[in-house]
Amino acid sequence: MNRPHWAPPEVDTTRPSVARVYDFYLGGSHNFESDRTFGRAVLGQFPELVQTARDNRAFLRRVVSRLSAEGIDQFLDLGSGIPTVGNVHEVALAVNPTARIVYVDHDPVAVLHSREIVRSLPGVTVLSGDLCAPQEVLRDAVAEGGLDLDRPVAVLLVSVLHFVGDERRPADVVAGYLDAMVPGSYLVLSHARSDGRRDMSDVAEIYRNSKNPMRFRSHEEVSELFGSLTVLEPGVVPIPLWHPESDDDIPPDVDSGYPGLCGVGRRDAAV
Ligand SMILES: C[S@@+](CC[C@H](N)C(=O)[O-])C[C@H]1O[C@@H](n2cnc3c(N)ncnc32)[C@H](O)[C@@H]1O
Repeated sequence: MNRPHWAPPEVDTTRPSVARVYDFYLGGSHNFESDRTFGRAVLGQFPELVQTARDNRAFLRRVVSRLSAEGIDQFLDLGSGIPTVGNVHEVALAVNPTARIVYVDHDPVAVLHSREIVRSLPGVTVLSGDLCAPQEVLRDAVAEGGLDLDRPVAVLLVSVLHFVGDERRPADVVAGYLDAMVPGSYLVLSHARSDGRRDMSDVAEIYRNSKNPMRFRSHEEVSELFGSLTVLEPGVVPIPLWHPESDDDIPPDVDSGYPGLCGVGRRDAAV
């Protein structure tokens, strides 16, 4: 097989990667047969995942658009993935052309392709890194990405913390970022749900045998990830219910067990 230019030599094309499988779910072209085989196995159990991935991207666009309109002009997108339509920088720069965006991912295809796309955009930086190391990521985001931690930042952890097992202490990871931020900073989170109507153990089982096992979390567990932040209205909710643009975007049975949750928290001044 000829290696495409977007797959650096260190990429093992024979093993599925979370970033490329997600690209496959979204109809992208940066994936290999190993990713598609894996993705098809998951979709065989859970075909709704395609719509869930689209809903997740739509949430990301809505929230970046809203925060940008409120004056947030620094975004730290952790586990940013392979670029697709409506990326964070496109939405943020459309509102404020001087916004600063730092993308972080540990997947080589995601990093390389993101760098190609943003090459000519001075305010956008792509870092290769492990989001579970907040100090290193923040150091590089300041030094290379020009983030100013004396001003508010929106930290995005969108559809990624379910790839962080409990042994890596996701709540501490979140706190590692938000504790370094000034009041007025935000946490934007979306996460696969364990306690919806549908039992996800068959999907979890497929991921368990991959190099990226998934940890589905309950509504209570996802809510706890916000720690001491003030969770904005409408709270931690099924993804389509976070400020939908139209009633048409809301599936009829969304309350009874939609498989993904999201929320936005704000760091307020200590009282
Ligand atoms: C499902 S994709 C989500 C992409 C994007 N945030 C979105 O919502 O469309 C998850 C991404 O997180 C990345 N990722 C997973 N664990 C990571 C880690 N520990 N550090 C950095 N990136 C990670 C994967 O490589 C993948 O690109």
